[in-house]
Amino acid sequence: MGPNQQKLLANAAQAVRSNAYAPYSRFHVGAALLAADGEIFAGCNVENASYGLTICAERVAIGSAVAAGHRQIVAVAVATSGGHSPCGACRQVLSEFGPAMEVILIDADDPTRTRTTTLAALLPEQFSSGAL
Ligand code: THU
Repeated sequence: MGPNQQKLLANAAQAVRSNAYAPYSRFHVGAALLAADGEIFAGCNVENASYGLTICAERVAIGSAVAAGHRQIVAVAVATSGGHSPCGACRQVLSEFGPAMEVILIDADDPTRTRTTTLAALLPEQFSSGAL
């Protein structure tokens, strides 16, 4: 992924974060995925009054990509206040569609603090279809 694509992906994550529906936690999350063919898919967290039904931004984005027929994801950008990394459940769901995915973590309050890592580093020994 080149610096231009990284910038586009980061901007998409920041933009979709403004649509986060998070009236309970007030923790707004935006996620943007880069599919193998260059298309970008975005998602934000969607909370619910029945708290446990909340869906994380990363999983909303994965659902959007898969629904559009894209199953190969090469990178994900996640924008949060503080630049936090995806929860364990999202790491596992992301790994289904891109075990070698690059991960860009954006601090929405200070995007100069953006850092990059990989899904392999965040989720070693993920459970995968090879086990079944
Ligand atoms: N959240 C995400 O959207 N992604 C994560 O990886 C971690 C947590 C959301 C869920 C909930 O709406 C809020 O952040 C606080 O947990």
